[in-house]
Amino acid sequence: MITFFLFLTIMHHGESVSTVPVSKPHGLESSSTGGLLQDNGVRAAYWPSFTGYPASSIDTSYFSHVYYAFVLPSPTTYELDITSYDVDKLLEFTNATGGWNPPAKTVLSIGGGGGGSLPETFSQMASQEYSRASFINSTIKVARDYEFDGIDLDWELPSNESDMSNLGLLFREWREALEYEANETVRPRLILTSAIYYASIISFDGPPRSYPIQAISQYVDWISPMCFGYHGNWENFTGSHSALYDPSTNLSTDFGIGSWIRAGVPPEKIVMGLAAYGPTWSLQNPNANTIGAATTGTGPGGGILVYSQVIDFNQANNATVVFDNISISYYSYSGDSWISYDDVGSIESKVHYARARTLAGYFFWALGQDSDWVISSAASQA
Ligand SMILES: *[C@@H]1O[C@H](CO)[C@@H](O)[C@H](O)[C@H]1NC(C)=O
Ligand SMILES: *[C@@H]1O[C@H](CO)[C@@H](O)[C@H](O)[C@H]1NC(C)=O
Ligand SMILES: *[C@@H]1O[C@H](CO)[C@@H](O)[C@H](O)[C@H]1NC(C)=O
Ligand SMILES: *[C@@H]1O[C@H](CO)[C@@H](O)[C@H](O)[C@H]1NC(C)=O
Ligand SMILES: *[C@@H]1O[C@H](CO)[C@@H](O)[C@H](O)[C@H]1NC(C)=O
Ligand SMILES: *[C@@H]1O[C@H](CO)[C@@H](O)[C@H](O)[C@H]1NC(C)=O
Ligand SMILES: *[C@@H]1O[C@H](CO)[C@@H](O)[C@H](O)[C@H]1NC(C)=O
Ligand SMILES: *[C@@H]1O[C@H](CO)[C@@H](O)[C@H](O)[C@H]1NC(C)=O
Repeated sequence: MITFFLFLTIMHHGESVSTVPVSKPHGLESSSTGGLLQDNGVRAAYWPSFTGYPASSIDTSYFSHVYYAFVLPSPTTYELDITSYDVDKLLEFTNATGGWNPPAKTVLSIGGGGGGSLPETFSQMASQEYSRASFINSTIKVARDYEFDGIDLDWELPSNESDMSNLGLLFREWREALEYEANETVRPRLILTSAIYYASIISFDGPPRSYPIQAISQYVDWISPMCFGYHGNWENFTGSHSALYDPSTNLSTDFGIGSWIRAGVPPEKIVMGLAAYGPTWSLQNPNANTIGAATTGTGPGGGILVYSQVIDFNQANNATVVFDNISISYYSYSGDSWISYDDVGSIESKVHYARARTLAGYFFWALGQDSDWVISSAASQA
């Protein structure tokens, strides 16, 4: 199974929050009626091009949109830097889409949580009109060359208010360019989406900064808050990494989604993140094994297991599985190993939550992590 990831780990109030586990060797049709996750709801998943999981294996009966993750901009020209590795993967992906039954829309995702100089590259690109235009033009060219239906920005994360206001300009100019190009070529407009922080204000690792709500509401087809990574083994206690609710902190999906809606983003422009992986810890005392128990470091899988591996681990180790009805998530433990994850019950509750708040839909990080489509199908049918 898939074990190759890098993580972006970000300090959060002196703790840290890891976002989409991502990166690659070198280095996410708007439902205009909104909401309800019915025929026109967004049921999306990212395909990490760098794990070896074949694009031809994706069962699109569970997904309306498949995101190609990721391509990167050049730090000097700001045009997309399509390496020969990317070409092979893009061709594999494009070729595979022909075999998908039913068909799904495809979206080219740019960026990811690779860290390094990537946030600085996005910051610089977004800071000047000319570099924004170079970037925008190249994203349209690559998306059209490889027959995508849309483009996604995954900038992790804007560092200050000027990054945020430049992001707003980028979204406006990008949308205008997409409208113009569609008009010129008489083709359906490419959709524009963005994977973003779980909440509308980022208040760690730098000054508090708010996403450009007006530009997002006007120019982006939808945003995809990354509703996971709230806790991990950078902390010395166990936690629910994708808690739907948390009565004592703001680190929860309910807080994050609520913050976007309170800030003014229409619910029908929000696609809620779901995780198909979970962090693992080593318990300090195997008998102290509830949420908040003391830990000494990472657990099995070097600190992360994907859903299929969690299920295998639980079986192989006769692990105790607990549904936490406060956070609406699962954990399991065996000996000193402790794992936070989502399973069918919590995934269904989260999709019901998304429906109740009339969100546009949900997305999974990531394809290749499920076990026989168990949680993908649970989400799709919830
Ligand atoms: C393209 O897809 C066909 C079947 O759909 C497969 O046989 C072929 O190997 C694929 N080619 C590439 C380059 O992935
Ligand atoms: C981007 O594309 C537009 C429309 O084709 C063109 O007018 C503009 O000069 C291009 N800008 C850059 C920097 O490539
Ligand atoms: C905002 O953050 C970017 C990226 O780190 C940095 O290059 C830029 O100087 C910062 N701007 C301000 C005004 O602090
Ligand atoms: C689309 O093209 C028509 C002419 O073909 C023009 O009148 C209209 O203003 C264009 N719209 C945009 C958004 O470019
Ligand atoms: C956990 O870490 C905090 C600081 O991050 C420290 O104050 C505390 O003593 C640690 N607890 C244990 C049990 O190591
Ligand atoms: C949670 O967020 C609200 C609104 O931003 C803020 O007033 C409150 O202080 C935060 N609570 C915690 C525990 O961070
Ligand atoms: C599995 O664990 C349960 C308690 O959690 C125990 O009753 C049972 O005997 C264990 N089975 C094996 C095969 O270890
Ligand atoms: C949550 O679970 C606990 C322990 O199993 C139980 O006592 C409590 O009634 C449950 N609460 C809800 C709201 O289901």
